[in-house]
Amino acid sequence: MEKILVTGGAGYIGSHTVVELYNAGYEVVIIDDFSNSDPKILTQIEKITAKRPELVQLDLCNEAAVQAFAADHRDITGIIHFAAFKAVGESVQQPLKYYRNNLFSLVNILNAFNHHIKLVFSSSCTVYGQPTELPVTEAAPVQSAESPYGNTKQISEEILRDSCAVNPLLKVITLRYFNPVGAHSSALIGELPIGVPQNLVPFITQSAIGKRGQITVFGDDYRTPDGSAIRDYIHVVDLAKAHVAALKKLDSEMASNYEIFNIGTGKGSSVLEIIHAFENSTGQKLNYVIGPRREGDVEQVYGDVSKAARELGWKAALGVDEMMRSAWKWEKYLKANPF
Ligand code: UD1
Repeated sequence: MEKILVTGGAGYIGSHTVVELYNAGYEVVIIDDFSNSDPKILTQIEKITAKRPELVQLDLCNEAAVQAFAADHRDITGIIHFAAFKAVGESVQQPLKYYRNNLFSLVNILNAFNHHIKLVFSSSCTVYGQPTELPVTEAAPVQSAESPYGNTKQISEEILRDSCAVNPLLKVITLRYFNPVGAHSSALIGELPIGVPQNLVPFITQSAIGKRGQITVFGDDYRTPDGSAIRDYIHVVDLAKAHVAALKKLDSEMASNYEIFNIGTGKGSSVLEIIHAFENSTGQKLNYVIGPRREGDVEQVYGDVSKAARELGWKAALGVDEMMRSAWKWEKYLKANPF
């Protein structure tokens, strides 16, 4: 059985990916410092899969600790690197916190695992900014980042590309996620936002359950059919499966040892469409108002996902209704079983 290191494996996308790795027959070791996750998630993973991942709690910015970990775990054949800070607004206020954490950790991992290794990296469609052509393909130019967070994703992609150019033993796939939402069908794992959620879907579910007040739609004067901004929402379980497909791809002959894939559904939904999809699929009425645009937001972005279908054999299977239903089921689970 192959052993895969999942950094940030207790986090939102990480935990769903650990479940899919077990479903696909892999063994898992998690590195997490629980800076933005809860150790109880490991028990939840165990409830779903009947397996408990090995956990190593360390700070990936500590080079000596990462070196020691690698020396102790020579049997790891692949890495999925999720561990990173991701709050856009906070990154503007505390840029060095983001550059240090997101970049040092990647450099330390690459230095420590400089032998034969395959790696899947979490990037974001944020690297495209507002694309001139939609759906956006992987070949679209990367635009200057709106935030230090976005910049860490761009710089990380460059670090990986340059490292692959000089080390043929290193094979890397960067996945550029669109907007991950939803939760596992068991409702035992899902997103655990700290404080007031900045992202749309967790704000919707918290508002519906009574934890937050009115939802503000950030702008209805965009040049879109209903005036609200458009994103490509992707179910987190589909996204998790894309990581397994990427690991398998890394075992095959690849045209290059560094490849990038868009991971979305290829379909855009507006903020108002998401609100109505939530209401229709859950039967819950939402209380919302139209407010001004949010600074730094792009008007619309959705992905061309044909490269992933062609080369990874992966395609999103779950639609917006399923995303909303599962997000709502998770919010209700959290109310009944607070973390
Ligand atoms: C945001 C980040 C992006 C990051 C991604 C991770 C920003 C500017 N971008 O993407 O860099 O990779 O999260 O998941 O923060 N909206 C409302 N009301 C709300 C919240 C959101 O109308 O209360 C709207 C937003 O204006 C946007 C859409 O909903 O049009 C989705 O927003 P969000 O979930 O925050 O994701 P992004 O902004 O696309």
